Amino acid sequence: MQTPFSLRAGLLLRLGVVLVLLLALDALASYFTALHFANLVYDRWLIDSTRSLAQAVRSEHGLIQFDLPRVALQVFQFDEVDKTYFKVSSARQGFIAGDRELPDNAPIQVGGLRLSFAAIHGQRVRLVSTRIVPGQVGDAVTVSVAETLIKRSTLTREILLGMAAPQIGLLGTALVLAWIGVFRGLKPLTDLATQIEARDQNNLSPVPQSGLPRETRVLVARINDLLARLSQAMRAQKRFVADAAHQLRTPLAAVLLHAERAERAPDTPTEREALRALHRSVERAARLSHQLLALARTDPEAISAIELKPVDLTSLARRVGEEWIPRALQRDIDFGLAVPDEPAIVIGDERLLSEMLSNLIDNALRYGNAHGHVTLMVEPGRQPRLSVQDDGPGIPVNERARIFERFYRLPGGTAEGCGLGLAIVEELARLHNATVEVTSGDDNRGSRFTVVFGNVGSSLPT
Ligand SMILES: Nc1ncnc2c1ncn2[C@@H]1O[C@H](COP(=O)(O)OP(=O)(O)O)[C@@H](O)[C@H]1O
Ligand SMILES: [Mg+2]
Repeated sequence: MQTPFSLRAGLLLRLGVVLVLLLALDALASYFTALHFANLVYDRWLIDSTRSLAQAVRSEHGLIQFDLPRVALQVFQFDEVDKTYFKVSSARQGFIAGDRELPDNAPIQVGGLRLSFAAIHGQRVRLVSTRIVPGQVGDAVTVSVAETLIKRSTLTREILLGMAAPQIGLLGTALVLAWIGVFRGLKPLTDLATQIEARDQNNLSPVPQSGLPRETRVLVARINDLLARLSQAMRAQKRFVADAAHQLRTPLAAVLLHAERAERAPDTPTEREALRALHRSVERAARLSHQLLALARTDPEAISAIELKPVDLTSLARRVGEEWIPRALQRDIDFGLAVPDEPAIVIGDERLLSEMLSNLIDNALRYGNAHGHVTLMVEPGRQPRLSVQDDGPGIPVNERARIFERFYRLPGGTAEGCGLGLAIVEELARLHNATVEVTSGDDNRGSRFTVVFGNVGSSLPT
């Protein structure tokens, strides 16, 4: 079985992922903003220094000179944290002053300024260059100033750290709020579960809808539907058990009575007579328990175990019909078979279909005319039909629906029975996607029970 997923955990996970993603995006944006401002601040100083150094470039006798007082140079180079470099060079004279190693920025226009990142002595630096043409020398001088990046990265890191603490606090608060929100939001569901859990197993009354959010109403409505059907089924089941117990009592009481009579019989003929009656009562009880069992077997649970296979109604009718010939002979009934040569295939369970047909034949032989006719018929086709017809007294039209009810028997009936046969027939037909029709027999005499099967090939309901 799959482990059930938690709605709460799922919601929190989704919210959490979104929050963390947002935070990461925000952190990235903050990082670049911090970097930008750190660069902005320190670049300004570098640019100013470059301009100041450029002012110290002069031309004398056609030669470029760079004279910066030593003190000024010391002031320029003094920095506790970063290392500062400069270089003055010209197109014609080449290197003039500063650090030879310092690379130049790509060529710039005269008076222009260029910023970039470069490296010196294996260290990354920020490099600013400007280009000037001093006096009338006609030689272009490039002045470059560079500075390592320690102050910048320190500042960036400080800005970031300063922002991180509140961000993480924010995330934590958001997660806690989300957890509370989700918990509160799902409370109606947990309340509902507690309410249903606390129920007594016999309480199948509907779950109250009031005070429930709209989203859970559909669920509760479905649960209530189910409860209603369940309680109906329970009622039917209880009634059935009560009826069954009541029905069994009659033949069993008769069994007791006849057994006592046999015991006390003064002579053999009386004893014989009592034993015969005993035999009949036992038979009745056996038949009743058989039918109760047959009905119990049509329970959805029991039925899920049956195997559905193609069954030929023609051969089924032949086989089951044969079993009933002795009974027909007993009552001197002309028992006929009207089946086609071709098979009539339905999908079903052979044993259950036999049970169904047996009940119909039993009724026809029992309630039809003695010395009359009973016919078994099979009609093939897209909707195969299986019928049993007799020429007995028939069934009044207004009783034709009721005779299928459990334990119902036509008033005034004499033959022994318990009124379950047709209920079984109907249940079994339903399981085979078939319906049972009751009509009069040929020439409007007797009765005819026809089982009409659904489209062959369509699947059966389970
Ligand atoms: N072929 C028939 N002809 C006349 N009445 C019938 C026929 N089949 C059934 N019935 C009536 O329907 C009632 C219910 O039949 P059934 O459910 O088989 O119960 P049971 O046979 O145990 O009485 C019977 O008692 C009988 O009155
Ligand atoms: Mg019957």
